[in-house]
Amino acid sequence: MNVPVITIDGPTASGKGTVAVRVGEALGFHVLDSGAMYRLVALSAIRSGVAHDDEAALAALAESLPARFVGDRILLGAVDATDLIRQEAVGNLASKVAVFPAVRDALLARQRAFRTAPGLVADGRDMGTVVFPDAPLKVFLTASVESRAWRRHKQLIDKGFPANIDDLRKDLAERDARDTQRRNAPLRPAEDALHLDSSDMPVADVVGAILGRWTQIQAACGAGTVDAP
Ligand code: CDP
Ligand code: CDP
Repeated sequence: MNVPVITIDGPTASGKGTVAVRVGEALGFHVLDSGAMYRLVALSAIRSGVAHDDEAALAALAESLPARFVGDRILLGAVDATDLIRQEAVGNLASKVAVFPAVRDALLARQRAFRTAPGLVADGRDMGTVVFPDAPLKVFLTASVESRAWRRHKQLIDKGFPANIDDLRKDLAERDARDTQRRNAPLRPAEDALHLDSSDMPVADVVGAILGRWTQIQAACGAGTVDAP
């Protein structure tokens, strides 16, 4: 049997990362923050002076990305990039480099390599639609632009980065448009996704809803095994 995967896709600041970590902890599963990979490509591009529209050079960066995920730290070569990649400028550039098929292809195998026993929770934009289309549980997590802008504002302030709520509303709307309208792997729910709107839902409730659905799926699989000839 394939190693199980739970995918969590959705727009920026809908809570994917926070929820993925909690669900991973509850089930003892590995966690893949696929957005971090696009952010690392963006950070590398900034550092090496690669232009945001140079697809071949960006794909080469993605191919040879010296990235390591060690516990809760994200390393780029010898640099601890965990906080650096959370800057809004890096997130915005990430969504620009993510439109290129060559960049996406270069990251695909790396993302799939995270699927190891006992299981994986993967968050991003195309986890359920492109990277792990056979995942037994796919979640599409949304929230209003207003709640997402304030969440991101708090995160940036807490990390000591500058944040302006009007700029954030505008950036989020632009990023949503780019992520949903791009030709390759656009942000959209998988057909069989569980839709959750977290605008007025605390993190614990979102996690509870996902774990509840997972328990149902496991029970149905168990029943299937018993009934199988
Ligand atoms: O944290 P936030 O939701 O703002 O973004 P992220 O998940 O860190 O992803 C940064 C950018 O990478 C997104 O705006 C997407 O354009 C891109 N991305 C993607 O195209 N596919 C993924 N599976 C994950 C991220
Ligand atoms: O990964 P993504 O960009 O989708 O979002 P995140 O970084 O996990 O979450 C953004 C912020 O929203 C975090 O500080 C979460 O604690 C918060 N959040 C929340 O307040 N309520 C939720 N239901 C989910 C997340």
